[in-house]
Amino acid sequence: RWNVLGLQGALLSHFIEPIYLYSIIVGSLHHTGHLTRVMSRRFEEIGPLPMLYRHNQPLLSGISKMEVRQSGKSPNFSVNWILGDIELDVINATTGRSTNGSSSRLCKHVLYACWARLYGKLSTRVPSHRDMPLIYCEAKLAAQTYHSVKQQLFKAFQKAGLGTWMKKPPEQDQFLLTV
Ligand SMILES: *[C@@H]1O[C@H](CO)[C@@H](O)[C@H](O)[C@H]1NC(C)=O
Ligand SMILES: *[C@@H]1O[C@H](CO)[C@@H](O)[C@H](O)[C@H]1NC(C)=O
Ligand SMILES: *[C@@H]1O[C@H](CO)[C@@H](O)[C@H](O)[C@H]1NC(C)=O
Repeated sequence: RWNVLGLQGALLSHFIEPIYLYSIIVGSLHHTGHLTRVMSRRFEEIGPLPMLYRHNQPLLSGISKMEVRQSGKSPNFSVNWILGDIELDVINATTGRSTNGSSSRLCKHVLYACWARLYGKLSTRVPSHRDMPLIYCEAKLAAQTYHSVKQQLFKAFQKAGLGTWMKKPPEQDQFLLTV
């Protein structure tokens, strides 16, 4: 999916060109044949893509010394840090919230608020940015090219007999922007 749509997601595609991975290095359980097939051959039939989008083919590599996979439970927390910040944001993996109980600064709502501020600044200059979508999923849908490439990708998967892309529950994107 990233190899066609880019890593930036729907919201950022309002502002920037797709960002593609240049290379992928797999540390363990690496199988060159499988990896190549997954990364490059699954959507050979996707057809022409709109300008700026492409079928990206990242360089692939394993590592010279195979790591033994660490089996066991995944950690009960995750940590994110932003350059210039003194504080770490420690997320409880069970709840998805910061350990102090508030929502993570990486949650959809916070990112949406950041997005809306930028969108608002641009809307005075870019006519197509006039009407600020207030519901998160509408803001995503408003990235029309991104959305159509996504549909094209999912159709290509289906056509190749690779099944239906798993969707997240729609209601998690149906929230209003309140800032
Ligand atoms: C909780 O922690 C986050 C970052 O870790 C911080 O931004 C937020 O202000 C904290 N909230 C409270 C209520 O202390
Ligand atoms: C994770 O587990 C450790 C050990 O049981 C515990 O001390 C810690 O508070 C837990 N952290 C979270 C975020 O639940
Ligand atoms: C993380 O969330 C779980 C479930 O609510 C709770 O039992 C646990 O104490 C939390 N850990 C921390 C460190 O807050």
